[in-house]
Amino acid sequence: MNDRYLRVFDEGSTPLFLAPQAGVSESPFRRLCRRFGADVVVSEFVSAEGIVRGNERTMDYLRFDEEERPIGVQIFGADPGAMGEAAAFVTETFGPDFVDINFGCPVKKIVKRNGGSGCLRDLPLVEAIIRAVDAATPLPVTAKIRSGFDERTRDPVGIALRCQDAGAAVLTLHARTRADMYSGHARWDEIAAVVEALDVPVVGNGDVRSGEDALRMREEAGCAGIMIARGSHGDPWIFKQARAALDGDPIPPGPTVEERFEICLEHARNAMAFDPKPWRAVKEFRKHLGWYTKGLPNGKALRQELFQVESLADMEEILEGYLDHARTRGWADRPVDAGDLADGVEPRPVGV
Ligand SMILES: Cc1cc2nc3c(=O)[nH]c(=O)nc-3n(C[C@H](O)[C@H](O)[C@H](O)COP(=O)(O)O)c2cc1C
Repeated sequence: MNDRYLRVFDEGSTPLFLAPQAGVSESPFRRLCRRFGADVVVSEFVSAEGIVRGNERTMDYLRFDEEERPIGVQIFGADPGAMGEAAAFVTETFGPDFVDINFGCPVKKIVKRNGGSGCLRDLPLVEAIIRAVDAATPLPVTAKIRSGFDERTRDPVGIALRCQDAGAAVLTLHARTRADMYSGHARWDEIAAVVEALDVPVVGNGDVRSGEDALRMREEAGCAGIMIARGSHGDPWIFKQARAALDGDPIPPGPTVEERFEICLEHARNAMAFDPKPWRAVKEFRKHLGWYTKGLPNGKALRQELFQVESLADMEEILEGYLDHARTRGWADRPVDAGDLADGVEPRPVGV
């Protein structure tokens, strides 16, 4: 048993997780978040069918660097046989530290075929998938669920117990139903109830947007780990702030505008280097540009320019021009926390 991953729960410090996020938690961003203090990272969800078919793009999603460990690869699908086969292939070929199963994705196209949160309508299927994956890999198998499919089937404790019984070594709960999508608030009281009911570690997820939120989630839910998704967008230093909050240290301020752009460009360079098709990487990086510039003075005009970039050189030029202006006005070296100012634009989450 590879326990490099499970050991993070023994260290008594509430590990912080970068959430699996399609189109976001790719290798370059995972590395950045690890550097800023994420203790564990998870790949974006990868289709078991795509893995079994050896789809080329799917293989790109599975690559990672040694420095990302401990890393989980997340797979989804509704066929236990294909899920087992995919887990065996991922273990053999890529050797992550754990295999995570997605029972949370609310996207129609996936749910229609019973993938992601679609499985939550059929709990025997959830169990069969976990058992099949567990039998196919020596790695720890973990499950990420929502609280139910809809209000009628809302039963986070019941679902989590079935996952544990079927062999899940860790359970992550995003405490909303599929019907909730992203509306309202995640129910941290449900995370607390699952923590109470399960023997395995429970990772809490939903609406952690700051260091203070991470501390509050641990206090309210008592979870063994904390997972952050949207709070990391354009804001990988949230992990540093969350770590300080959890350790009872003063929460460091966010980066200055200069530092923010440096990190953004480092992220961009790594993204270009990682993608075999750099033009595609530029296009896909535009959403990050939106997030990194959220809350900046005159951010809207800046983003309008950035959303047209066609190369790394374009990004460098636009950001440098903005910085020159900020320097002459004297605020380039001031921290600006994302969301501080009214004209921040949050690009719509892709897909999930
Ligand atoms: C852009 C985006 C992509 C996502 N992709 C995935 C995914 O591939 N697998 C998954 O389990 N959850 C996915 N999620 C859900 C997140 O992992 C997380 O459960 C959810 O956003 C709630 O956490 P938050 O409030 O910290 O954002 C995605 C969320 C976003 C915003």
